[in-house]
Amino acid sequence: MVILPMPSRIVSGLRPTAVNSVLAEVKALQAQGRDIVSLMRGEPDFPTPAHITTAAVKALAEGRTTYPDNRGEMKYREAVVAKLDRDNGVTYDVSEILITTGATLGLHCALTALVNPGDEVLLPNPVYDAYQSPIRLTGAVPKPVSSVIENGRFALPLAALEEAVTPASKVLLLNTPWNPVGTVFTRAELEAIGDFVLRHKLILVSDEIYEAITHGGAKHVSPASLSPELRESTVIVNSLSKTYAMTGWRSGYCAAPKEILDAMFLVLQQSSRGPAMFVQDASAVALSGPQDCVDAMQAEYARRLDVVMGELTGIAGVKPLAPEGGFFVMADTRALGEPSDVTRRRLLEKHGVVVVHGSAYGSQGEGTLRVSFSSGATLAKGLERLRAGLLEPRG
Ligand SMILES: Cc1ncc(COP(=O)(O)O)c(C=O)c1O
Repeated sequence: MVILPMPSRIVSGLRPTAVNSVLAEVKALQAQGRDIVSLMRGEPDFPTPAHITTAAVKALAEGRTTYPDNRGEMKYREAVVAKLDRDNGVTYDVSEILITTGATLGLHCALTALVNPGDEVLLPNPVYDAYQSPIRLTGAVPKPVSSVIENGRFALPLAALEEAVTPASKVLLLNTPWNPVGTVFTRAELEAIGDFVLRHKLILVSDEIYEAITHGGAKHVSPASLSPELRESTVIVNSLSKTYAMTGWRSGYCAAPKEILDAMFLVLQQSSRGPAMFVQDASAVALSGPQDCVDAMQAEYARRLDVVMGELTGIAGVKPLAPEGGFFVMADTRALGEPSDVTRRRLLEKHGVVVVHGSAYGSQGEGTLRVSFSSGATLAKGLERLRAGLLEPRG
């Protein structure tokens, strides 16, 4: 028998996402009959709003089931252009829009189009861990930028960006609102970051997937709206997954200057024919139809956030950091004096509640736990277990 070298060198450098690794542990415990409550996933628990599903059913009934335009159906791209103008204050042409199967494929296309093997991709530490592998797939190197916890929120100081950047740096990958830490970068912070990007001739890949979920008056600013120069150096990556509770529909979009967009399209067509046509029709309706469904979900997230903050208050050694955006609270557990993965396992194995250890998102997530409030039905039960676990004296 011929034994092929398996897996390939590139694949050997890839890692499962934090959520998938923790899920494997959860499944093993569930197989033993354990009852586990999840405060882990970043998945809206709302049904997709009815007018969007109705549009998909109508499109199906009309036979919209053939190959779509590989760049994205014109109606959907036009809806994206109108949305970016309406919500983000940025102007794009339909030729500068690419429809993707979620932000996941958008990120892959952007990174593959922009970097060469050996280039560096700057990214905050900690950040959404699923950025690591698509960077490594290109042969580029993720270069973490140190964050600080200041005034109860994670920030990305300019000095840290300047310290991390080298002549090999090609891209800054930013996520605002920032998963997992919940920071919504202010206009002033983004202006400083934008200057940095332009000064070092980088491309900013701006993942704005949580833009619609903000708290306490924080307002999402799209970096591309800050100046024409920054727009020319930015790729916007977004999707309908979080805003419209459409995670399973696999519908997203990117906006970028045409030259970059064309390169991304070349990448995309090697592995995707795009979301199904009826999904694209419904996505256009989501973006251009009534937005009160988004406001209603946002109001419910705000209510849940208050509940989480209340339940995590008054626990010795634990300080919940109120997020400005997204649906995660980072609990600062540094004072407990144990690695966050140890705390997480204890909570899972002894108390039957699953959260994600902050160190899964980078070394500077160490000493924190990510607590999701995206699922309302089990929130109270999960928080009760979490609180009991964190209050329990450790031996
Ligand atoms: C920051 C961030 N970017 C991208 C994604 C991927 O989203 P999509 O469902 O659009 O592929 C996620 C999903 O959790 C996310 O948290």
